[in-house]
Amino acid sequence: SLSLSLFLSVSVCLLSLRVTARSPLDGRCVFPFQYRKETFHDCISFNARHKWCSLNETYMGYWKYCTKADFAKCVFPFWFRRMIYWNCTQDGNDFGKKWCSLTQNFNKDQLWKYC
Ligand SMILES: *[C@@H]1O[C@H](CO)[C@@H](O)[C@H](O)[C@H]1NC(C)=O
Ligand SMILES: *[C@@H]1O[C@H](CO)[C@@H](O)[C@H](O)[C@H]1NC(C)=O
Repeated sequence: SLSLSLFLSVSVCLLSLRVTARSPLDGRCVFPFQYRKETFHDCISFNARHKWCSLNETYMGYWKYCTKADFAKCVFPFWFRRMIYWNCTQDGNDFGKKWCSLTQNFNKDQLWKYC
């Protein structure tokens, strides 16, 4: 009984070590990433209540919930129509809200977020 409980606690310990070793705490979101044949440039809420990202360029089962630091960042400068922007802008936004591009060329990639 002693050896059994020793065995159990060692296995539990090993198990938790393994879980810890696999934890993606040090993993970083990889943008853009491919998931189900689509390309994503930011954390997504697909099939989940909280937004998450893939830790590989093509999703392979490694993922993490996004924290504030993980979400896609504005890229400056970026092209929009015929101008180069170094800041968030209201231009082209129907509601007068500031936005920025997630890539250097908004005209081509059409990826953006509110600032
Ligand atoms: C996928 O990402 C995980 C976490 O960063 C890493 O450990 C693993 O080696 C990556 N796999 C490939 C094939 O790059
Ligand atoms: C653009 O951002 C810079 C800081 O990155 C700031 O100094 C500057 O005043 C901003 N320009 C405008 C037009 O908001």
